[in-house]
Amino acid sequence: MGFRGIIISIWSIIMQLFLLMVTSSSLRLGENEMNRQSLLAFKAEIMSDPLSILSSWNESLHFCQWQGIACSRRHQRVTVLDLRSSQLNGQLSPHIGNLSFLRTLNLQNNNFNNTIPQEIGRLFRLQQLRLGNNSFSGDIPFNISRCSNLQILRMDGNHLRGKLPIEIGSLSKLQVLGLRKNTLSGEIPPSFGNLSSLQVLDVPENNLRGGIPNVLGQLKSLTYLSLGENYFNGTIPPSIYNLSSITIISVLLNELHETLPPGLGHTIFPNLQEFYFGGNQFSGPIPNSISNASNLSVFSISFNEFTGKVPSLARLSNLYRLAFDSNNLGNDEEGDLDFITSLANIIAFANQLILICSQRTAVEAEILGYKHSRAGCFPVFEVCMSLCCERQWVFVIYSNAQYA
Ligand SMILES: *[C@@H]1O[C@H](CO)[C@@H](O)[C@H](O)[C@H]1NC(C)=O
Ligand SMILES: *[C@@H]1O[C@H](CO)[C@@H](O)[C@H](O)[C@H]1NC(C)=O
Ligand SMILES: *[C@@H]1O[C@H](CO)[C@@H](O)[C@H](O)[C@H]1NC(C)=O
Ligand SMILES: *[C@@H]1O[C@H](CO)[C@@H](O)[C@H](O)[C@H]1NC(C)=O
Ligand SMILES: *[C@@H]1O[C@H](CO)[C@@H](O)[C@H](O)[C@H]1NC(C)=O
Ligand SMILES: *[C@@H]1O[C@H](CO)[C@@H](O)[C@H](O)[C@H]1NC(C)=O
Ligand SMILES: *[C@@H]1O[C@H](CO)[C@@H](O)[C@H](O)[C@H]1NC(C)=O
Ligand SMILES: *[C@@H]1O[C@H](CO)[C@@H](O)[C@H](O)[C@H]1NC(C)=O
Ligand SMILES: *[C@@H]1O[C@H](CO)[C@@H](O)[C@H](O)[C@H]1NC(C)=O
Ligand SMILES: *[C@@H]1O[C@H](CO)[C@@H](O)[C@H](O)[C@H]1NC(C)=O
Repeated sequence: MGFRGIIISIWSIIMQLFLLMVTSSSLRLGENEMNRQSLLAFKAEIMSDPLSILSSWNESLHFCQWQGIACSRRHQRVTVLDLRSSQLNGQLSPHIGNLSFLRTLNLQNNNFNNTIPQEIGRLFRLQQLRLGNNSFSGDIPFNISRCSNLQILRMDGNHLRGKLPIEIGSLSKLQVLGLRKNTLSGEIPPSFGNLSSLQVLDVPENNLRGGIPNVLGQLKSLTYLSLGENYFNGTIPPSIYNLSSITIISVLLNELHETLPPGLGHTIFPNLQEFYFGGNQFSGPIPNSISNASNLSVFSISFNEFTGKVPSLARLSNLYRLAFDSNNLGNDEEGDLDFITSLANIIAFANQLILICSQRTAVEAEILGYKHSRAGCFPVFEVCMSLCCERQWVFVIYSNAQYA
């Protein structure tokens, strides 16, 4: 290649660079204009805004200055749309899917209704989607699985129905899945065993049913598992008891049965803090190992079929809530109540009376269930009385019926 050839190729490189600059800047303008149009389309679907939150969304301000918006510094693209707790009433526009640089969408605590548009699946950079406490209805859009960077997905407290989309299982970065308090039905799909980053699975107060899938035992990062107030049946799979990171577990009010595993709170769930197994058909003894669960603060197993002697709770210095009522605990022997003296925050319960020793209101009070007859419980009553007085707590007496 001669001198001429070099000049020509340099010239052609310069021309190409120039063209690239022209097209990329017009693309940028296009992208920005699309962001603005998408936000206006979003606003157009808001029927009522009593706090005038969206009055700043006007022509005299750049959209990056509009309330609830944050943009990327360099290219001025919308990365955050956060209008939580703004009393907004309306629908979520499908144009939301055009805000392709969005990383956080937070609309929790408003009154959005109608469905969540499938277009949400176009937000492939989205990391946080928070739509809790609205009135969204319809199904969870399965396209959400295309938001492959999603870490937090919360849609608690809406009117969502239908099944849990199988596709959610492909969200390998998902850490938090919160769908509490909807009307979701069907089973937990086996694909959820692929949610390898999941730390929080929070799906209580739905109409979910079937067995708890074995594959949830693959979720090694899981610290919080809440499946309460559904229709789960069968037993807790042994793989679940293998999850050593669990700190809080609730299967409250389901149709589960079987005994609790030996080692609970010690070798099984060694980091246990809160345990809610009430309102099922669990049976057998409370494992002695619970005495070793040094971080246990809540142990709630009311309304089951537990039997036998209650282990010592003396070492559980963090325990503040204990619910044993409506079981068959105790062997009708002298030592049955030994554990009571080991408790710091003591409450007693007899067949006809529930004695509540409370720091604040009765609602917050701790209850201890016991099948002993009223007469047989008088010594307990005294223990409780004296401990209550010692701590200057309120002492309340309810009859069983009244409490129920
Ligand atoms: C636009 O919003 C700003 C900030 O809320 C406000 O000061 C201004 O008066 C608004 N302009 C118009 C034309 O509404
Ligand atoms: C934005 O999204 C809507 C609905 O998904 C679509 O109809 C429209 O063409 C998009 N706008 C632009 C400018 O691409
Ligand atoms: C959503 O709320 C608006 C205003 O309250 C109401 O007019 C509309 O019918 C609701 N739509 C749905 C699908 O519930
Ligand atoms: C939903 O995802 C499918 C592919 O999984 C795609 O074909 C479809 O266009 C998406 N729908 C919307 C509204 O983005
Ligand atoms: C939803 O509302 C309840 C009750 O007001 C509140 O405790 C909860 O924190 C709210 N959830 C979200 C996600 O804001
Ligand atoms: C889990 O992921 C693996 C690998 O991507 C895939 O082969 C498998 O089908 C998935 N399992 C389920 C139940 O979706
Ligand atoms: C659990 O419930 C389903 C129906 O939801 C039923 O088909 C299944 O047999 C039940 N399993 C057990 C172990 O009771
Ligand atoms: C529990 O974990 C151990 C070690 O990771 C493994 O060998 C065993 O198969 C697991 N048990 C169940 C029931 O998943
Ligand atoms: C108990 O909790 C403390 C403080 O959160 C923590 O440092 C400790 O490792 C926990 N111990 C167990 C056995 O979980
Ligand atoms: C409680 O912990 C101690 C010390 O690790 C251990 O020797 C004992 O066997 C444990 N008791 C139960 C019932 O797990």
